[in-house]
Amino acid sequence: MKIEKEEMISVLDEGVVVRDVLKDIAMSGTQDDDAFFVMSVGDVIKQYETWTKMLPTVKPYYAVKCNDSLVVLQIMNALGANFDCASKGEISKVLELGVSPDRIIYANPAKMKSHLTYAAEKNVNLLTFDSVNELYKIKMIHPNARIILRISADSYDSQCPAMSMKFGVNPDTEAYSLLKEAISLGLNVVGISFHVGSGCRETDAYGRALASVKNLFNQARDGLGLKMTIVDIGGGFQNCNFDKTCATLNRAFSDYFQDDPDVKFIAEPGRFMVASAYTLATQIHSMRINNNQTMFYINDGVYGSFNCLLYDHASVTPIPLKENTFGSPLITCSVWGPTCDSLDLISEDCLLPSCLNIGDWILFESMGAYTIPTSTKFNGFLPPKVHHICDYENWCRIKESLPNIIDNYTYQQTPHWKHQQNTTNSNGYENSPSTGYLLHPIPTPH
Ligand SMILES: Cc1ncc(COP(=O)(O)O)c(C=O)c1O
Repeated sequence: MKIEKEEMISVLDEGVVVRDVLKDIAMSGTQDDDAFFVMSVGDVIKQYETWTKMLPTVKPYYAVKCNDSLVVLQIMNALGANFDCASKGEISKVLELGVSPDRIIYANPAKMKSHLTYAAEKNVNLLTFDSVNELYKIKMIHPNARIILRISADSYDSQCPAMSMKFGVNPDTEAYSLLKEAISLGLNVVGISFHVGSGCRETDAYGRALASVKNLFNQARDGLGLKMTIVDIGGGFQNCNFDKTCATLNRAFSDYFQDDPDVKFIAEPGRFMVASAYTLATQIHSMRINNNQTMFYINDGVYGSFNCLLYDHASVTPIPLKENTFGSPLITCSVWGPTCDSLDLISEDCLLPSCLNIGDWILFESMGAYTIPTSTKFNGFLPPKVHHICDYENWCRIKESLPNIIDNYTYQQTPHWKHQQNTTNSNGYENSPSTGYLLHPIPTPH
């Protein structure tokens, strides 16, 4: 079995934190002047455990589109998450991990025929739909599927608004007739789904959507004799208001569904599981002063990881890696990506210490969602490499929960990014002495 370096997980000594690793890799010189990510496996575990603690009745189907890296998928699998896939490619990636098809929802309401055929062949039987044409397609290609109607349920405020412009039928005016059509085609309708918008800031949206779902459950039962049992609450979850979201959800579950013990809640979280696990380290490779403003050029941009600024409506905060020991004043500056396109602008107007110079590193936290799968190689710049790390305690827990992984491990004493360590890096900076905090990089299995 060939183990790719990118798929290794390095287990840390006690007390070592992400910033130590970032510093060590940046100063080691092995990255040359390429940007890189440090991904904390322990953070993904923490997020998953927060989910199960706060929403114990909701089974998470991790949204693969958000970050489809093999390590993330393996950790999700180890933790017992199910998977939300949008295409044949995502389904096949998840099945290759050994995940059983009944742990997958094919949650793309508009499916291409060949992808749907693949889902049928592989026994991926849980699907979403939101149109009569999709019903005909399902009837023809996958007639025994368990299907879920997607309704529109936009929140008034989210990072990625207006999800319903693309998917979801109006719950009041369109949903019932579509359910009726599905029944007349002899299809097996099992539930209702919605997505309030990724990065949902208006948590009441979940309450409104669940009221609509309850309404439709009642209408279908009374008018069509249809008993639905699955409520799919989609995505939209984020750290900053997760407590409030959970309070809204748990209240609505009990208000609307307490009297129905057969109802099962599922969700499709993406961002919540992976965003905070990834820190991106970028290096200033060029700078100039224009109109009295300092312009920093860094080695990743909107065609790479910062595509999230365009596609995911994200905003990012630059954090210098080096301490501002001598209290340099903050200056207003702009931060640009490496390509020749003027669209490649990361921050037009931010404050950074005046002591920053070419060769210095700038960090960006919470960069794990909707960044890696959407990166391009435009202008010949490759996406940053990912260094996966795990604290020893979490590592012990995860390896115990998945003993079959352990058979595939080989142990090395030297962290993989230190193999080529020189005494000085490409900028002439002296490398920090090896801290020796890494126990062993562990390849993850295929
Ligand atoms: C159908 C579906 N489910 C889940 C998600 C994941 O959403 P989030 O990352 O906000 O949790 C998305 C994201 O666009 C989606 O389209």
